[in-house]
Amino acid sequence: MTNNIYINDLSKHVGEEVTLKGWIYNKRSSGKVKFLILRDGTGYLQCIVFKGNVSPEVFELADSLAQEASFEVTGTVKEEPRAVGGYELDATDVKLISESVDYPITPKEHGIEFLIDHRHLWLRSKKQVAIMKIRHRIAKAIRDFFDERGFTLFDPPIITPNASEGTSTLFEMEYFDLGKAYLTQSGQLYAEAGALALGKVYTFGPTFRAEKSKTRRHLTEFWMVEPEMAFYDLDDDMDLAEEFIEYIVQSVLKDRKAELEILERDISKLENIKRPFPRVSYDEAVKILHDNGIEFEWGNDLGAADETMISSKFDKPVMVHRYPAEIKAFYMKRDPENEKVALAVDVLAPEGYGEIIGGSQREDDYDTLVERIKEHNLPLDFFKWYLDLRKYGSVPHSGFGLGLERTVTWICGIEHVRETIPFPRMIYRNTP
Ligand code: 4AD
Ligand code: MG
Repeated sequence: MTNNIYINDLSKHVGEEVTLKGWIYNKRSSGKVKFLILRDGTGYLQCIVFKGNVSPEVFELADSLAQEASFEVTGTVKEEPRAVGGYELDATDVKLISESVDYPITPKEHGIEFLIDHRHLWLRSKKQVAIMKIRHRIAKAIRDFFDERGFTLFDPPIITPNASEGTSTLFEMEYFDLGKAYLTQSGQLYAEAGALALGKVYTFGPTFRAEKSKTRRHLTEFWMVEPEMAFYDLDDDMDLAEEFIEYIVQSVLKDRKAELEILERDISKLENIKRPFPRVSYDEAVKILHDNGIEFEWGNDLGAADETMISSKFDKPVMVHRYPAEIKAFYMKRDPENEKVALAVDVLAPEGYGEIIGGSQREDDYDTLVERIKEHNLPLDFFKWYLDLRKYGSVPHSGFGLGLERTVTWICGIEHVRETIPFPRMIYRNTP
C-alpha cells in the first residue's frame, strides 16, 4: 500500500476510493456541483464535488479553493472518456493543504517579461509542464542512444584554462593564484582524450557562451551532448548524427504525443523525420542561396536567414558539410581534396529552426595542428596535452555537438529557446 497515488496511475485504481494530492489548476461550478481540476505534475483530473456527497464544510471549502491552492481530495475513480486524461473522481472529501492568495499568473494573457520574471511559477502552466516533459524525454533518448551503442559517458571539466570554440565568447573568472580560468564552451577537446582512451564516448552537460546575440536561438548557458569517436571519418560522423536525430524524434513521438498535442505541434512534420537526410556541401548551399536571389559571398558564414532559406527547400534536417576552413574552429581537419574547406558538418533543423548540430573530423596530424593553433593566435603551451593526443598513437577521429535546447525548441515547435530550460540564462537576464 503506497501513500502517494498520482494521476497517471489511475488506470490501476478504477472503482477504488483513493486520495490524491496536488494543486487547483482550474475550477468551475454549476449549482450543486463544483468541478475542481487537480494537477499533480503527472496529469490533470476533474474532481466532482457534489453537494449531496460531502459535508457542508467540505462543499464550502471546495467553493473557496483558489488557483494553485494545494489540497488533498478523496473519492472514487471513474472511467470517463470525455474527461481530460480519461478519468474522473467522485469526491467524498476535500482537505486544504495550503492557501494560494492572488496567484499572479491567471488564465488571461500575460506579457513574456512578466512570465519570465515569474518563471518559478510559470513552470506550473500546462504548456511549460509539457515542454519540461518533452525535454526530459529527449535527454533520456540521448543517453539511451549512446548507451545502447557502446559509448561511455565521459564528464569533462566545467572550469577550463582555455577556449575551445574561439576566444570571443568566454566567461572569465579569477582562479586562485593561477590567473584566469573560464567556463567551458564545449567538452570536445577533453572528449577527444576520452575517445582515444575508450573508443567511443559522449559528454552531456551544461556549456557556457558569453554570446552577445539577443536572438531566439541563443542562451548563455545551454546543455550540449558531444559524442566523440576514434576511427570515424566525416561520413561516419554524419551517419551517426542522422541516426541520432531520427532516434530522438521517434522516441518523443512514441512517448510524448499527449504533450506535443498540448503544444499544438504539427505531428506529421515530426513523423517525417526518418533517414536518410539530405546532405549538401557548403558550395551547393551557396548555390541554393544564389538561385533564390540571395546575395551571398563564398567564404562567409551562413546567417540565420540563409539557414532558413536552405532548410526551407527540404522537409527533413539538412546536413551542410565542407565549410570554408577560415570560418571554422582550429581543430577541424581540412579536406585533403580541397584544402580551402574543413571536414565540418552543421545540421539545420527544418521549419526554420536553424543549426542544431555542429561537428567535424578532427585534425590528427601533430605538425598541422601546431600550425593551426598558431594561426588562431591560441597559446600553444595550454594545448600541450591536446597535442599529445597527436603524438602518442594518433588516429582519425570525429564527433559532433547537439544543442539540447534548440532541439527541444524544434521538436516542441515553439518560438523561443528560453522556454525549453527551467531557468534560462540570457545576455539580459540571469534571474530568477
Ligand atoms: O557548433 P558548436 O559551437 O560546436 C561545438 O561546440 C563543437 N565543439 C561540437 C563538437 O564537435 N563536439 O555548438 C554545437 C551546438 C550548436 O549546433 C547548437 O545546437 C548549440 O550547440 N549551441 C547553442 N545553443 C543555445 N545557445 C547557444 N548560445 C548555443 N551555441 C551553440
Ligand atoms: Mg556551430
